[in-house]
Amino acid sequence: MTIPRPSVLLVDDEPRTLELLGQVLERSGFDLSLASSPGSAVELLRSSRFDAVVTDVVFDGWSEGGLVLGAAREHQPEAVVILMTGYPALEAAVAAVKQGATDYLQKPVDPVVLAAYLHRSLKERDMSSPTLAFKDLVDILTSMVAHTIERVDPYTAGHGSRTRKYCRMMAQRTGLDDATRERLELAGIAHDYGKIYLDDLSFLTKKGPLTPEEYAAVQKHPELGAKKLGHHPHLKDVCRYVAEHHEKWDGSGYPKQTKGEDISLAGRILGVVEVFDSLATKRSYKDGWELSKVVEFLKSERGRHFDPAVVDEFLVLLESHGEDWLRAPQKDREAAGVVAAD
Ligand SMILES: [Fe+2]
Repeated sequence: MTIPRPSVLLVDDEPRTLELLGQVLERSGFDLSLASSPGSAVELLRSSRFDAVVTDVVFDGWSEGGLVLGAAREHQPEAVVILMTGYPALEAAVAAVKQGATDYLQKPVDPVVLAAYLHRSLKERDMSSPTLAFKDLVDILTSMVAHTIERVDPYTAGHGSRTRKYCRMMAQRTGLDDATRERLELAGIAHDYGKIYLDDLSFLTKKGPLTPEEYAAVQKHPELGAKKLGHHPHLKDVCRYVAEHHEKWDGSGYPKQTKGEDISLAGRILGVVEVFDSLATKRSYKDGWELSKVVEFLKSERGRHFDPAVVDEFLVLLESHGEDWLRAPQKDREAAGVVAAD
C-alpha cells in the first residue's frame, strides 16, 4: 500500500539548487514538485494541493518570493511556507512571518536542515488541529479507495492520486466549474474501481498480450465501476466519467463506442490523463515510456483517441511538468515497496 508522502512545492530559479535540495527532500520522504519561476509556482498553487511550500525570495534580481507566499496563503492556507534568501535582513524576515511564512532560512540552505525543518513544521501543524476538516475526511476516504484498487493491481501504485492531480490541473486549464472539477477528481481516483469486481484478475500481472476473452473481461471495468460506486445523487456525474474513461473521440473506444462531444468534457479529460499515466508506468509487460515517445503518441492520437482541444491543453502542461510526471510512477512504486518485475 502506498503511504501518502507530504507534498512539497520547491521554488527556485537556480536549477542546481532545485536539484540539490530536491534530491535530499525526496530521499527524506517528500513528494516533490518543482517550479523555476514565481509564475509557474502560482499556477501550481492554484491547481494542486501542497503540505508545504519552500521558495526562494529573489528571482533574477527581483524580490518576487512574496508573490509565491501570497498565493500560498490564498490557495493553501494550511500549507507550511518556508522562505529562502541569499539577502537576509531582519525586517524582511519579520515581514515574511507577518504575511504568514512559517520560517525563514538563509541561503545556502543545508538540505538536511531543510528536511528536518519541514518534518518538524508539518508535525506541529498536524498536532495543532485535532479535529478533522471535511477535506481531510475526503482525502482519507479517497486514499482508501485508491489503495483498494492498488491492492488488486500493485503496478498501479499511486495511479489514482496522480490521475486526480493531473485532472485537477486540466480542469483549471479548461475552465471547468468547481463542482465538475471536484467530481472529476473523484473519478480520477476511482476510475478503475470496477477492476476489483472482475472475476479473474490474473491478467493484471500477465506478461504478454491479453487473449480476446481476457480483453473482453477487462472491458467490463468502466461500467462495473460506475455501478459499484453507488447511487448517491452527488455521484451521478462521477459514475458517468468513470463509465466513459475508455471511450474515444472517434467512437472506437469501449464500452459504448460513445463519440466526440457525446462524451462529457470531464470524461474526455480523464481519458487523456489516464492514458498518459499508464504509458508512464512500467507494467509486467512493458517499460514506462520516454517523454518524447509519449508526446509523439498523444499527438498521433489527436482527433482519433483524444479530443484535439483537450490533448492540446494537456501537451502544454507536459511542457512544464512532463519529466516530473514521467518519473512519478516509479517513485510511487518504490514508496509502496513494489519490486520492479522484468
Ligand atoms: Fe481503466
